[in-house]
Amino acid sequence: MVLESIKVYKTICQTHLKPKILRLYNGEIKVYTMANCEIIELHRNSLSWAKIVEEIMRIEKKVFPKHESLAKSFEEEAKKRNGGLIYSLIGGEVAGYVMYSWPSSLYACITKLAVKENYRGKGHGEALLKAAIEKCKTRKIHRISLHVDPLRKAAMTLYKKLGFEVDSLVESYYSLGRDAYRMYLEFEMD
Ligand SMILES: CC(C)(COP(=O)(O)OP(=O)(O)OC[C@H]1O[C@@H](n2cnc3c(N)ncnc32)[C@H](O)[C@@H]1OP(=O)(O)O)[C@@H](O)C(=O)NCCC(=O)NCCS
Repeated sequence: MVLESIKVYKTICQTHLKPKILRLYNGEIKVYTMANCEIIELHRNSLSWAKIVEEIMRIEKKVFPKHESLAKSFEEEAKKRNGGLIYSLIGGEVAGYVMYSWPSSLYACITKLAVKENYRGKGHGEALLKAAIEKCKTRKIHRISLHVDPLRKAAMTLYKKLGFEVDSLVESYYSLGRDAYRMYLEFEMD
């Protein structure tokens, strides 16, 4: 089962292996590749659990301001039975991660998504999000929701690219005066 899941994620990743050519951000032209990247689901009984969680917590602290960071409760969150954690690994280093949960049998939530700054723009975020969506779909839920700071342009663009739509603006969601968009993705079940 574990091997099967990894195979699924590797397959998802393979679709991104071809170099992404000529992406243009800030006037810069680059050729990106995700070669040698693995997208892996972290299992509670994994031997590398502690090492991977520690690495992810370091990224979490760096990327998110305190009030948005799960760093303190990350391990607890990651151990929850109704959730999962998927990470991308490049040369033994964690490049990014996505955390998700399914509070009920009807819907799931993306609770965290982040890619290390030096690995951004290479397809990790998209591969991780797609892997989490695929994983949620196996639970037969038909709606995935998430919250995002409207100022996070890269994240907003990525979510829209994968079909998420804005549901509503939740005022002071992160802290006083810091709002969030609630976004959702719905799909037909086979
Ligand atoms: C959002 C984030 C995870 C994206 O990860 P990434 O690996 O850089 O994204 P990818 O390379 O997979 O890009 C996928 C798509 O996202 C969008 N995107 C990525 N970076 C972007 C940027 N700087 N500006 C605009 N859109 C961007 C594009 O639609 C891109 O598709 P394209 O390559 O066809 O244009 C990353 O920027 C990050 O960690 N940001 C800080 C944390 C964060 O905001 N998390 C979300 C919290 S809700």
